[in-house]
Amino acid sequence: MIDLNTKLGNRLSLSNPILTASGTFGYGDEISDIVDVELYGGIVTKSLTLKPREGNPPPRIVETPSGMINSIGLANIGVDLFLEEKADFLKIYRGQVIINIAGRTDSEYCEILKRLTEENWIDGFEINVSCPNVSEGGIEFGTDPKILSNLARKLRDLTDKFLMIKLSPNVTDIRILAETSQKCGADAVSMINTVYGSAIDINTKKPLINSVIGGLSGPAIKPIAIANIIKSYRVIDIPIIGIGGISRGEDVIEFMLAGASAVQLGTVHFYNPLAINEILQFLEKYCSQNNILSIGDIIGKVEI
Ligand code: SIN
Repeated sequence: MIDLNTKLGNRLSLSNPILTASGTFGYGDEISDIVDVELYGGIVTKSLTLKPREGNPPPRIVETPSGMINSIGLANIGVDLFLEEKADFLKIYRGQVIINIAGRTDSEYCEILKRLTEENWIDGFEINVSCPNVSEGGIEFGTDPKILSNLARKLRDLTDKFLMIKLSPNVTDIRILAETSQKCGADAVSMINTVYGSAIDINTKKPLINSVIGGLSGPAIKPIAIANIIKSYRVIDIPIIGIGGISRGEDVIEFMLAGASAVQLGTVHFYNPLAINEILQFLEKYCSQNNILSIGDIIGKVEI
Protein backbone atom coordinates (compact mmCIF):
# COMPACT_ATOMS: atom_id res chain seq x y z
CA MET A 1 0.00 0.00 0.00
CA ILE A 2 1.34 3.44 -0.95
CA ASP A 3 0.91 6.19 1.64
CA LEU A 4 -0.90 9.07 -0.06
CA ASN A 5 -1.50 10.97 3.19
CA THR A 6 -0.44 14.57 2.93
CA LYS A 7 0.21 16.93 5.81
CA LEU A 8 -0.13 20.63 5.04
CA GLY A 9 1.65 22.15 8.01
CA ASN A 10 0.29 21.60 11.52
CA ARG A 11 -3.32 22.43 10.88
CA LEU A 12 -4.49 20.23 7.99
CA SER A 13 -3.99 16.67 6.79
CA LEU A 14 -5.38 15.16 3.61
CA SER A 15 -6.03 11.50 2.83
CA ASN A 16 -4.43 12.15 -0.57
CA PRO A 17 -2.84 15.22 -2.20
CA ILE A 18 -5.70 15.99 -4.60
CA LEU A 19 -8.10 18.87 -3.91
CA THR A 20 -10.68 20.48 -6.15
CA ALA A 21 -9.86 23.96 -7.44
CA SER A 22 -12.20 26.75 -6.46
CA GLY A 23 -14.85 27.59 -9.05
CA THR A 24 -14.65 24.30 -10.90
CA PHE A 25 -16.60 22.12 -8.48
CA GLY A 26 -19.27 24.42 -7.05
CA TYR A 27 -19.80 23.58 -3.38
CA GLY A 28 -19.42 19.84 -3.96
CA ASP A 29 -23.08 18.85 -3.98
CA GLU A 30 -23.76 19.91 -7.60
CA ILE A 31 -21.37 17.33 -9.01
CA SER A 32 -21.77 14.57 -6.45
CA ASP A 33 -24.03 12.40 -8.61
CA ILE A 34 -21.34 12.28 -11.33
CA VAL A 35 -18.12 12.13 -9.33
CA ASP A 36 -17.35 10.34 -6.06
CA VAL A 37 -16.39 13.45 -4.08
CA GLU A 38 -14.94 11.27 -1.32
CA LEU A 39 -12.06 10.37 -3.64
CA TYR A 40 -10.53 13.83 -3.14
CA GLY A 41 -8.44 14.78 -0.15
CA GLY A 42 -10.72 17.79 0.12
CA ILE A 43 -13.03 20.25 -1.56
CA VAL A 44 -12.17 23.90 -2.11
CA THR A 45 -15.42 25.78 -2.70
CA LYS A 46 -16.22 28.51 -5.21
CA SER A 47 -15.22 31.91 -3.80
CA LEU A 48 -17.72 33.22 -1.30
CA THR A 49 -18.42 36.89 -0.76
CA LEU A 50 -20.50 38.38 2.02
CA LYS A 51 -23.50 39.11 -0.24
CA PRO A 52 -24.56 37.12 -3.32
CA ARG A 53 -23.03 38.29 -6.61
CA GLU A 54 -24.42 37.93 -10.14
CA GLY A 55 -20.93 38.10 -11.61
CA ASN A 56 -20.02 39.51 -15.02
CA PRO A 57 -22.39 39.50 -18.02
CA PRO A 58 -22.00 36.66 -20.55
CA PRO A 59 -20.22 35.49 -22.58
CA ARG A 60 -17.94 34.80 -19.65
CA ILE A 61 -16.32 31.51 -20.62
CA VAL A 62 -14.55 30.76 -23.89
CA GLU A 63 -12.57 27.74 -25.00
CA THR A 64 -9.11 28.29 -26.52
CA PRO A 65 -6.45 25.80 -27.66
CA SER A 66 -5.32 23.89 -24.55
CA GLY A 67 -7.22 26.15 -22.22
CA MET A 68 -10.24 28.15 -21.22
CA ILE A 69 -10.68 31.84 -20.53
CA ASN A 70 -13.16 32.78 -17.83
CA SER A 71 -14.42 36.06 -16.53
CA ILE A 72 -17.05 34.91 -14.08
CA GLY A 73 -16.64 37.91 -11.82
CA LEU A 74 -16.96 35.97 -8.57
CA ALA A 75 -20.61 35.02 -9.09
CA ASN A 76 -21.67 33.21 -5.92
CA ILE A 77 -24.55 32.73 -3.50
CA GLY A 78 -23.11 34.70 -0.57
CA VAL A 79 -22.45 33.53 2.97
CA ASP A 80 -26.04 33.36 4.27
CA LEU A 81 -27.37 31.13 1.48
CA PHE A 82 -24.19 29.06 1.58
CA LEU A 83 -24.79 28.24 5.23
CA GLU A 84 -28.49 27.59 4.63
CA GLU A 85 -28.20 25.44 1.51
CA LYS A 86 -24.75 23.91 1.29
CA ALA A 87 -23.71 23.17 4.85
CA ASP A 88 -25.69 19.92 5.20
CA PHE A 89 -23.82 18.28 2.34
CA LEU A 90 -20.41 19.51 3.48
CA LYS A 91 -21.04 18.51 7.12
CA ILE A 92 -21.21 14.83 6.18
CA TYR A 93 -18.38 15.02 3.65
CA ARG A 94 -15.43 13.00 5.00
CA GLY A 95 -12.63 14.91 3.24
CA GLN A 96 -11.42 18.36 4.25
CA VAL A 97 -13.64 21.37 3.58
CA ILE A 98 -11.78 24.50 2.54
CA ILE A 99 -13.77 27.66 1.91
CA ASN A 100 -12.44 30.09 -0.68
CA ILE A 101 -13.11 33.68 0.40
CA ALA A 102 -13.11 36.88 -1.67
CA GLY A 103 -13.94 40.45 -0.79
CA ARG A 104 -13.98 44.04 -1.96
CA THR A 105 -12.35 45.34 1.22
CA ASP A 106 -10.30 44.07 4.15
CA SER A 107 -13.36 44.24 6.32
CA GLU A 108 -15.43 42.11 3.94
CA TYR A 109 -12.79 39.34 3.99
CA CYS A 110 -12.61 39.60 7.78
CA GLU A 111 -16.37 39.55 8.27
CA ILE A 112 -16.75 36.37 6.18
CA LEU A 113 -13.89 34.64 7.97
CA LYS A 114 -15.24 35.60 11.40
CA ARG A 115 -18.60 34.06 10.56
CA LEU A 116 -17.28 30.88 9.00
CA THR A 117 -14.51 30.10 11.46
CA GLU A 118 -17.24 29.40 14.06
CA GLU A 119 -18.50 26.45 11.98
CA ASN A 120 -16.80 23.30 13.25
CA TRP A 121 -17.27 21.38 9.97
CA ILE A 122 -15.11 23.88 8.08
CA ASP A 123 -11.45 22.85 8.11
CA GLY A 124 -9.75 25.82 6.53
CA PHE A 125 -9.78 28.79 4.20
CA GLU A 126 -8.27 29.72 0.89
CA ILE A 127 -8.01 33.49 0.51
CA ASN A 128 -8.57 34.66 -3.04
CA VAL A 129 -6.28 37.63 -3.63
CA SER A 130 -5.80 36.79 -7.28
CA CYS A 131 -9.10 37.01 -9.18
CA PRO A 132 -8.33 38.90 -12.41
CA ASN A 133 -11.98 39.56 -13.24
CA VAL A 134 -13.34 42.13 -10.78
CA SER A 135 -12.83 45.88 -10.57
CA GLU A 136 -12.71 45.99 -6.76
CA GLY A 137 -10.95 43.48 -4.55
CA GLY A 138 -9.52 40.35 -6.15
CA ILE A 139 -6.06 40.72 -7.60
CA GLU A 140 -5.45 44.18 -6.10
CA PHE A 141 -4.93 42.42 -2.74
CA GLY A 142 -2.40 40.01 -4.21
CA THR A 143 0.04 42.18 -6.13
CA ASP A 144 1.33 44.61 -3.49
CA PRO A 145 3.13 42.96 -0.54
CA LYS A 146 2.02 45.74 1.86
CA ILE A 147 -1.65 45.36 0.99
CA LEU A 148 -1.39 41.58 1.16
CA SER A 149 0.39 41.66 4.48
CA ASN A 150 -2.17 44.00 6.00
CA LEU A 151 -4.99 41.64 5.00
CA ALA A 152 -3.22 38.37 5.82
CA ARG A 153 -2.26 39.49 9.34
CA LYS A 154 -5.85 40.50 10.11
CA LEU A 155 -7.15 37.15 8.85
CA ARG A 156 -4.52 35.19 10.77
CA ASP A 157 -5.61 36.91 13.98
CA LEU A 158 -9.20 35.84 13.38
CA THR A 159 -8.79 32.09 12.94
CA ASP A 160 -6.82 29.14 14.23
CA LYS A 161 -7.89 27.13 11.22
CA PHE A 162 -5.80 26.33 8.16
CA LEU A 163 -5.21 29.54 6.19
CA MET A 164 -3.92 29.44 2.62
CA ILE A 165 -3.34 32.39 0.30
CA LYS A 166 -4.12 31.88 -3.42
CA LEU A 167 -1.54 33.75 -5.48
CA SER A 168 -1.58 35.17 -8.99
CA PRO A 169 1.01 34.61 -11.71
CA ASN A 170 0.19 38.09 -13.04
CA VAL A 171 2.94 39.72 -10.99
CA THR A 172 6.62 40.48 -11.56
CA ASP A 173 7.87 38.07 -8.91
CA ILE A 174 5.49 35.67 -7.19
CA ARG A 175 8.18 34.81 -4.60
CA ILE A 176 7.72 38.16 -2.87
CA LEU A 177 4.02 37.47 -2.33
CA ALA A 178 4.73 33.90 -1.23
CA GLU A 179 7.29 35.15 1.33
CA THR A 180 4.85 37.81 2.52
CA SER A 181 2.16 35.16 3.04
CA GLN A 182 4.55 33.05 5.10
CA LYS A 183 5.67 36.03 7.23
CA CYS A 184 2.05 36.87 8.00
CA GLY A 185 1.35 33.40 9.38
CA ALA A 186 -0.31 31.68 6.42
CA ASP A 187 -0.17 27.89 6.66
CA ALA A 188 0.24 27.46 2.89
CA VAL A 189 0.08 29.22 -0.44
CA SER A 190 -1.75 27.98 -3.50
CA MET A 191 -0.53 28.89 -6.97
CA ILE A 192 -1.30 29.73 -9.67
CA ASN A 193 -4.62 31.43 -10.27
CA THR A 194 -5.38 32.17 -13.93
CA VAL A 195 -3.14 34.06 -16.33
CA TYR A 196 -4.54 37.16 -18.08
CA GLY A 197 -5.86 36.12 -21.49
CA SER A 198 -8.12 37.22 -24.32
CA ALA A 199 -9.49 35.92 -27.63
CA ILE A 200 -11.10 37.66 -30.62
CA ASP A 201 -13.70 36.49 -33.16
CA ILE A 202 -12.08 37.36 -36.49
CA ASN A 203 -15.45 37.66 -38.28
CA THR A 204 -17.20 40.02 -35.89
CA LYS A 205 -13.87 41.53 -34.74
CA LYS A 206 -15.29 41.41 -31.21
CA PRO A 207 -13.66 39.90 -28.16
CA LEU A 208 -15.07 36.46 -27.39
CA ILE A 209 -15.48 37.38 -23.77
CA ASN A 210 -17.64 40.26 -22.58
CA SER A 211 -15.05 41.76 -20.26
CA VAL A 212 -12.44 41.59 -23.10
CA ILE A 213 -9.75 40.18 -20.81
CA GLY A 214 -10.25 37.21 -18.52
CA GLY A 215 -8.21 34.49 -16.85
CA LEU A 216 -6.69 31.63 -18.84
CA SER A 217 -6.61 28.18 -17.20
CA GLY A 218 -6.05 24.60 -18.36
CA PRO A 219 -3.05 22.73 -19.81
CA ALA A 220 -1.81 25.89 -21.57
CA ILE A 221 -0.73 27.38 -18.24
CA LYS A 222 0.88 24.29 -16.71
CA PRO A 223 4.48 25.28 -17.54
CA ILE A 224 3.88 28.73 -16.01
CA ALA A 225 2.62 27.10 -12.82
CA ILE A 226 5.59 24.71 -12.66
CA ALA A 227 8.06 27.58 -13.07
CA ASN A 228 6.40 29.63 -10.32
CA ILE A 229 6.40 26.64 -7.96
CA ILE A 230 10.06 25.80 -8.61
CA LYS A 231 10.98 29.42 -7.81
CA SER A 232 8.78 29.71 -4.72
CA TYR A 233 9.77 26.35 -3.22
CA ARG A 234 13.32 27.66 -2.85
CA VAL A 235 12.33 30.67 -0.74
CA ILE A 236 9.50 29.54 1.54
CA ASP A 237 9.08 26.77 4.10
CA ILE A 238 5.29 26.54 4.14
CA PRO A 239 3.57 24.07 1.79
CA ILE A 240 2.71 25.04 -1.77
CA ILE A 241 -0.52 23.76 -3.28
CA GLY A 242 -0.06 23.54 -7.06
CA ILE A 243 -2.76 24.61 -9.52
CA GLY A 244 -2.64 25.05 -13.29
CA GLY A 245 -3.68 22.67 -16.03
CA ILE A 246 -3.40 19.42 -14.11
CA SER A 247 -5.29 16.73 -16.01
CA ARG A 248 -3.31 13.50 -15.55
CA GLY A 249 -1.43 11.65 -12.85
CA GLU A 250 1.83 12.52 -14.60
CA ASP A 251 1.03 16.21 -14.06
CA VAL A 252 0.55 15.66 -10.32
CA ILE A 253 3.98 14.02 -10.09
CA GLU A 254 5.53 16.90 -12.04
CA PHE A 255 3.96 19.49 -9.72
CA MET A 256 5.14 17.60 -6.64
CA LEU A 257 8.68 17.24 -7.98
CA ALA A 258 8.64 21.02 -8.56
CA GLY A 259 7.75 21.57 -4.89
CA ALA A 260 3.98 21.23 -4.47
CA SER A 261 2.82 19.31 -1.39
CA ALA A 262 -0.66 18.88 -2.87
CA VAL A 263 -2.51 20.00 -5.99
CA GLN A 264 -5.91 21.21 -7.11
CA LEU A 265 -7.79 19.92 -10.16
CA GLY A 266 -9.63 22.69 -11.98
CA THR A 267 -10.37 23.05 -15.69
CA VAL A 268 -10.15 19.29 -16.21
CA HIS A 269 -13.49 18.99 -14.39
CA PHE A 270 -15.16 20.65 -17.41
CA TYR A 271 -14.03 18.00 -19.91
CA ASN A 272 -13.14 14.96 -17.83
CA PRO A 273 -14.98 15.13 -14.50
CA LEU A 274 -13.84 11.60 -13.66
CA ALA A 275 -10.13 12.46 -13.95
CA ILE A 276 -9.66 11.88 -10.21
CA ASN A 277 -10.13 8.11 -10.67
CA GLU A 278 -7.34 7.82 -13.27
CA ILE A 279 -5.09 10.19 -11.33
CA LEU A 280 -5.27 8.20 -8.08
CA GLN A 281 -4.63 4.95 -9.94
CA PHE A 282 -1.61 6.50 -11.65
CA LEU A 283 -0.15 7.80 -8.36
CA GLU A 284 -0.33 4.30 -6.83
CA LYS A 285 1.27 2.76 -9.94
CA TYR A 286 4.03 5.41 -10.23
CA CYS A 287 4.95 5.09 -6.56
CA SER A 288 5.05 1.30 -6.56
CA GLN A 289 7.08 1.18 -9.81
CA ASN A 290 9.57 3.68 -8.37
CA ASN A 291 9.76 2.16 -4.86
CA ILE A 292 8.22 5.26 -3.28
CA LEU A 293 6.48 4.33 -0.03
CA SER A 294 5.04 7.75 0.68
CA ILE A 295 4.00 10.25 -1.98
CA GLY A 296 5.36 13.07 0.20
CA ASP A 297 8.89 11.78 -0.46
CA ILE A 298 8.94 13.30 -3.94
CA ILE A 299 8.09 16.87 -2.95
CA GLY A 300 10.70 19.27 -4.35
CA LYS A 301 12.88 16.44 -5.64
CA VAL A 302 13.40 17.88 -9.11
CA GLU A 303 17.09 17.53 -9.89
CA ILE A 304 18.41 20.91 -10.92
C1 SIN B 1 -14.02 34.52 -11.30
O1 SIN B 1 -15.01 34.31 -10.58
O2 SIN B 1 -13.98 35.47 -12.09
C2 SIN B 1 -12.86 33.61 -11.25
C3 SIN B 1 -12.29 33.54 -9.89
C4 SIN B 1 -10.82 33.69 -9.85
O3 SIN B 1 -10.14 33.69 -10.88
O4 SIN B 1 -10.28 33.82 -8.75
